[in-house]
Amino acid sequence: MKESVGWAPSLIPDSPRTTDQIEFHSIYIKKSTMDKAPAIETRDLTIRFGGNIAVNEVSLVFEEYHLKSIIGPNGAGKTTLFNLISGQYKPTSGRVYLNGEDVTGLDPASRTKLGIGRSFQLTNIFPTLTVLENVRLALQSKVDVGMVFWHHWRSYTELEDRAYDLLKQVLLEDRWRYAASTLTHGEQRKLEIAILLGLDPAVLLLDEPTAGMSIEEVPAILEIIQDIKAAHNRTILLVEHKFDMIMTVSDTIAVLKEGQLICDDTPEAVSNNEKVQAAYLGGGVKHG
Ligand SMILES: Nc1ncnc2c1ncn2[C@@H]1O[C@H](COP(=O)(O)OP(=O)(O)OP(=O)(O)O)[C@@H](O)[C@H]1O
Ligand SMILES: [Mg+2]
Repeated sequence: MKESVGWAPSLIPDSPRTTDQIEFHSIYIKKSTMDKAPAIETRDLTIRFGGNIAVNEVSLVFEEYHLKSIIGPNGAGKTTLFNLISGQYKPTSGRVYLNGEDVTGLDPASRTKLGIGRSFQLTNIFPTLTVLENVRLALQSKVDVGMVFWHHWRSYTELEDRAYDLLKQVLLEDRWRYAASTLTHGEQRKLEIAILLGLDPAVLLLDEPTAGMSIEEVPAILEIIQDIKAAHNRTILLVEHKFDMIMTVSDTIAVLKEGQLICDDTPEAVSNNEKVQAAYLGGGVKHG
């Protein structure tokens, strides 16, 4: 399991504390919480493709352990924004910060190492490997093979157990022994989330995790995302078109239209926002 912040408990001595010590600790913790940089921040992030500005001066703050959804009509720039955050695209101008550090110049692999994990609008799995092997490989890639690997995972079985636990988390454990190619589209999307969790990212970018799913499969994905959120150890960025789902799961919602940020607020405020309603074909936000 991902460990929670380790320093705070270690500051507290085992021996009986004086009032001063207690006061000192509470001040220290309060100050650190206040000073903490957001998990992700974009400042004036912009990318042009020829004459088309796909993302236009977008400044957004993603608070740690919060779930912010990005919504907007087709072509609004949602996937492009994810590509800029994960490093697949380099911005024309503007910056990306991870925990307050400027990561704009870093490639996707370096950003993954620092804790940015993303799923794609299209699935990204090894079809001939079993479901369990797909997740095991993700876990394995997280740690270097060799000493570090064996320090971390005492045995191969332990690694497989962990992979199986992740499959349970995405409600896919009964399919563990099947080739990934035999999964339904919805099951593949769940596997993709398990693979992503195997990489143990602090920041999770989910691009349309319900894309192409049948309506019956959607509640399971919602449940999985809610479980990840409830664990309160990852920041989640979610792109989705299913508005009811977005309203249920989001702490905040950012709305893009033609590359520009038109609103960033609570779900309730966003659903009542006139600019947002106008952006959706002038006829209010579509539910479903
Ligand atoms: N590599 C690229 N080259 C040229 N144009 C691009 C590229 N990537 C994205 N675009 C353009 O940027 C704009 C935003 O596309 P993007 O895929 O980010 O939209 P989206 O909000 O994710 O849409 P959807 O809801 O359909 O997934 C579109 O006009 C798209 O054609
Ligand atoms: Mg997209």
